[in-house]
Amino acid sequence: MRVLVIGSGAREHALCWKLAASPLLTALCCVPGNPGIATLATCLPGSVDDIPGLVALARREAIDLVVVGPEGPLVAGIADAMQAAGIRCFGPDAAAARLEGSKSFTKEICAAAGIPTAAWRRFTDAAAARAYLATLRTPPVVKADGLAAGKGVVVATTHEEAEVAIAEFMEVGRLGAAGRALVLEERLVGEEVSLFALCDGAHAIAFGAAQDHKAVGEGDTGPNTGGMGAYGPPPALTSALEQAAMERIVRPALAEMARRGTPFRGILFAGLMLTAEGPKLIEFNVRFGDPECEVLMLRLRSDLLAALVAAMDGELLSFDVRWSPDAAISVVLAARGYPARPASGGVISGLDAAGAVAGAQVFHAGTAMQDGVLVARGGRVLAVSATGTTLADAARAAYAAVDRVVWADGFCRRDIGWRALGRTPT
Ligand code: AMP
Ligand code: GLY
Repeated sequence: MRVLVIGSGAREHALCWKLAASPLLTALCCVPGNPGIATLATCLPGSVDDIPGLVALARREAIDLVVVGPEGPLVAGIADAMQAAGIRCFGPDAAAARLEGSKSFTKEICAAAGIPTAAWRRFTDAAAARAYLATLRTPPVVKADGLAAGKGVVVATTHEEAEVAIAEFMEVGRLGAAGRALVLEERLVGEEVSLFALCDGAHAIAFGAAQDHKAVGEGDTGPNTGGMGAYGPPPALTSALEQAAMERIVRPALAEMARRGTPFRGILFAGLMLTAEGPKLIEFNVRFGDPECEVLMLRLRSDLLAALVAAMDGELLSFDVRWSPDAAISVVLAARGYPARPASGGVISGLDAAGAVAGAQVFHAGTAMQDGVLVARGGRVLAVSATGTTLADAARAAYAAVDRVVWADGFCRRDIGWRALGRTPT
């Protein structure tokens, strides 16, 4: 099969790395890719947002299957456009991608399907949001209703913080159109886990889980980012809890989407809170997580391409997903100033030495080649990852690899996995 991957992050590098190992693969292309992906795939120029351009490119390259990494093109209808052109595309169509594109849509699905989630209210008017806030006993989570690349959520610890978030989203317009409507939501307490399910519209099978560290600072402090590191399998998600989440959250959502005539096909990412009352849904995403995907791909033993094809062909129930018993971890190296104002352009070296650490795998995210030299070109720049017999072994290998990377502008959290490793944060 000739496969085209859309995206340029470490998630897409990990997907390409795993796809490249598939016996079903005959050619691998990526738009736009990055220098790491270029070692595995033919990287072609283009924008992930130029859907007509991507359809034309897929036709030109005689692509059999398109695999979409980020949510933006899915919400914008890339799967619809590819299907209309007769090209198979892994990922939901625009109608099903609303599960990520609109938080209030997901809440409606939860209400209709009886899915456990936090109590919530949606507002398009700041005064009404403030009036509701005044009635709450505990500070809520304030969320922009639209897509905001992980930056549209404030977990307020005081009512004043919630007030500031309402003003910034709705009146200052910090997130543009994404913040015009917002959701005030009950704060859930517990361990947070990312559960992935491969879906064919009618059936879902669990497809791995990981825990992500969203906050930029050690001890899970500071502003939220796209994710500073992840590890798996998550010790907190027992198989009983995973089953409960599949039965009470993933499958009812899938059934409700099918009932509405908008079946979900692709990878459904359920962001869960493992509360005292059982797993509750924080949010759905309609794609692999980043850096969760890096952890998943390092642990996946089955053929990824065969799994994606089984989901597209409605043959998921007979697909056997196998995982390595090893643990995996991914540590994000980000550019100084991330997430607010990441520094750009610094020279990076030492990646061969980092990749030579036993069990380590370096995935590129925001890197670029400039005059033959690798430089940083983004917020999250590398996902230095590793496997090990235990999570502690994996962490040792990943940080040994991190320490071989030479990049003056880079920083990482030194405490990825701290809860599972039983450490107090540094
Ligand atoms: P979201 O974009 O909805 O995933 O929110 C980003 C992060 O905010 C989540 O990963 C959680 O860590 C946190 N969060 C969101 N909603 C809640 C909630 N209802 N209770 C507690 N934490 C939340
Ligand atoms: N790491 C969280 C996400 O991909 O949304």
